[in-house]
Amino acid sequence: MEYGYFDDQNREYVITNPKTPVKWINYVGTLAFGGIVDHTGGALICRNDPALNRITKYIPQLPSSSFKGTTLYLRLKEAEGQYRIFSPYFVPTLDAYDRYECRVGLGYTRICHEFAGIRTEATIFMPMSAEQVVRDIRITNTTGDPVCLDVIPVVEYTHPDALKQFTNADWVPQTMQSKALRQPGDEVILIQYPFMNRDRQVNFFTSNWPVSSFETDRARFLGDNEYGTWAQPLALQQPELGDYEALRGDNIAALMHHLDEVHPGETARLITQLGQTGNIVEALPSIERYRDPAQVDAALDELAAFWDVYLGRLQVQTPSASMDRMVNVYNARQCHTTLNWSRYLSLYQLGLGARGIGFRDSSQDAMGIVSSMPGTSKAMIQKLLHVQRRDGSAYHQFNPLSMVASEGDAGEEGEIKYYSDDHLWAVLATCAYLKETGDLTFLDEVIPYYDQDGEDQTIESGTVLDHLWRGLEFTTSHLGQHGLPLAGFADWNDSTNLPPGAESLFTANLYGVALRELIELAWHLDNEALAARLEEDYRAMRDRVNECAWDGEWYVRYFDPRGEPLGSVRCEHGQIYTNGQSWPVLSGFAPPERALCALDAVREHLNTPNGIKLSTPGFNGFDPEKGGVTTYPPGTKENGGIFLHANPWVMIAETMVGRGGQAFEYYDQINPAAKNDVIDEFECEPYAYPQNILADEHPQFGLARNSWLSGTASWCYQAATKYILGIRPTYEGLCIDPCIPTGWDRFQVRRVFRDAVYEIEVLNPDGVSKGVRSVSLDGTPIEGNVAPVLVGTHQIRVVMG
Ligand code: GLC
Repeated sequence: MEYGYFDDQNREYVITNPKTPVKWINYVGTLAFGGIVDHTGGALICRNDPALNRITKYIPQLPSSSFKGTTLYLRLKEAEGQYRIFSPYFVPTLDAYDRYECRVGLGYTRICHEFAGIRTEATIFMPMSAEQVVRDIRITNTTGDPVCLDVIPVVEYTHPDALKQFTNADWVPQTMQSKALRQPGDEVILIQYPFMNRDRQVNFFTSNWPVSSFETDRARFLGDNEYGTWAQPLALQQPELGDYEALRGDNIAALMHHLDEVHPGETARLITQLGQTGNIVEALPSIERYRDPAQVDAALDELAAFWDVYLGRLQVQTPSASMDRMVNVYNARQCHTTLNWSRYLSLYQLGLGARGIGFRDSSQDAMGIVSSMPGTSKAMIQKLLHVQRRDGSAYHQFNPLSMVASEGDAGEEGEIKYYSDDHLWAVLATCAYLKETGDLTFLDEVIPYYDQDGEDQTIESGTVLDHLWRGLEFTTSHLGQHGLPLAGFADWNDSTNLPPGAESLFTANLYGVALRELIELAWHLDNEALAARLEEDYRAMRDRVNECAWDGEWYVRYFDPRGEPLGSVRCEHGQIYTNGQSWPVLSGFAPPERALCALDAVREHLNTPNGIKLSTPGFNGFDPEKGGVTTYPPGTKENGGIFLHANPWVMIAETMVGRGGQAFEYYDQINPAAKNDVIDEFECEPYAYPQNILADEHPQFGLARNSWLSGTASWCYQAATKYILGIRPTYEGLCIDPCIPTGWDRFQVRRVFRDAVYEIEVLNPDGVSKGVRSVSLDGTPIEGNVAPVLVGTHQIRVVMG
């Protein structure tokens, strides 16, 4: 079964059957204002904070057929007092449409629908320079006769405190209020707020057509004491809505528009806006602006132009069409989404509690967009460093608006208050930013540490470089019995929570990668003494890892407090871990023969046709000594599931040992675009990476979940562009070091780097995997494989061999 196809020309995925296995979504706007739009028109919209400023009530756990947050009804008058009601979004009326198509575009979703001779095309998006979600609805009469048509868009509100909406059915409904503002042209603006926000923050819903009536109370709209349904709201069987301004209860916004006579072939265009403002008078100019169809067209053009620039920084043409599709459009786009929403708001990450954004997650997300939006990447790094403690460790998560940080699960559950990896990711992100931009002044920028005195004042600040050193120092001052970093509450694997005293090989290797980055930086800064000291630290950790963590055929993953290994052939469960093998290659700690052996073990024990498992075999039963990981059945999530985030690290490691064919095979096997043919097994969107896929220990092997918000986006993008295609920024210039399948005879990359455009053509006449024989710049041979920092547009020709 297929539910749609890629329209590469228009950079859209086109869903042709609305009954997808689960809802497939798109994102509109940003965390500042925007959210999720599903392929049946439902929308979860928030402003700045999904937990504390949520606008629409979208309950993902309800069945797919249910109304969620927003919809649109059309109604045809059949006889006096009798109406035929249907939704061009399919949900909630579920009619047997003649045509349905949902175009998932870059920052917009367009739903096209035909039923009873009425063709509707609704484009849902956020103008770049506004804070309201616009729905541009075009309705065409394709019958031979004039029709009388009514158009009724509907929104259901939530209390802005999203969790309170579900935990308190006393206070919430007593506070919810709606008012109607009638305008001179008979347009209506419906305003909605909880009482306490009346004078400072109100939601509004309006359109660009005369409104004959409205409803703001859900019970009245559905009718019959809410025994009326969203599929057949009883209020829509009346000529007009009740014009009721709700002063409590479940608030909605429904606007009745009579299009009167729509002639055959004629198209009516109705534009709705859902927004939020401090004061409705202040919002009027913007509301007026987007009532004008020409302005809506211009806003859509502006959105397209934004994506042209964003994506235009790196475009590739390889022998793999599905790789091109991901790198050029969908993966790059997903990196933008993860940077914006972190792990805050999706159908799986519900943004209800106080989670905020994660330190390690956002560090990695900042690396995913650094080539497209270096300035945004820098702004994120500044925030991250601000939630670092003076001792060099980092708070696990924080609210990017209030900058209030917390310890995450470590704060609640354990005596250990830190994650051992968080702070080290900031080193990787910062160095990626420096290499991309050459902006070394950033290292001198002073950023406060998070610790505050009794009066909420900063105690100490340090330069960016200080922050990075402190991070290293934290690791070196928190070592365990083998001299390896203590695991803390957890390392990257959030859910393996070992008792105090456990050591993490992941953190040891991440520390190694961080050291390598800083050694490179020290050399670039001509600080030989520093580089020498860091190299000494690097060798010391490398030797320790190799002395104690080699298990014979692979590296172990942890030592428990008794010094027993986890990730050893001696273990009954969790015998081998993927990150245990890829990371010693990434850090360079693994000597060449061990690197190959460890990566071969991944292929032999952990690889499946649906991706590489995080570990195997899965734990089979809850074990408080292992923590959260054992709450999952075997083959699920971190417990032996295919956790995609860890897959690109194996790809990168494979390129480091020169096996481009293997790297690409791992890349290709998790490419969601290739899942289109097995989507009934995969279930999630084929245009975004999911976080996890059930592995072969689970009967539903191949089933994906938690799409969109995953570190998979950043790392697959990096694996593809920096390691397989090998186009890597360095302090000195743009390095070209591909590691590709031997069958590839050429590929091309257009890369904007600093102030220049590099048009790179790589030829592989001898069918090698790795190795650069010659490089020419604008026709002149150059030494080595690093194109210098330039301005203007330049042609680079690389011959492998
Ligand atoms: C989730 C978390 C991430 C963690 C990963 C593995 O994706 O957001 O921080 O590294 O799980 O546990």
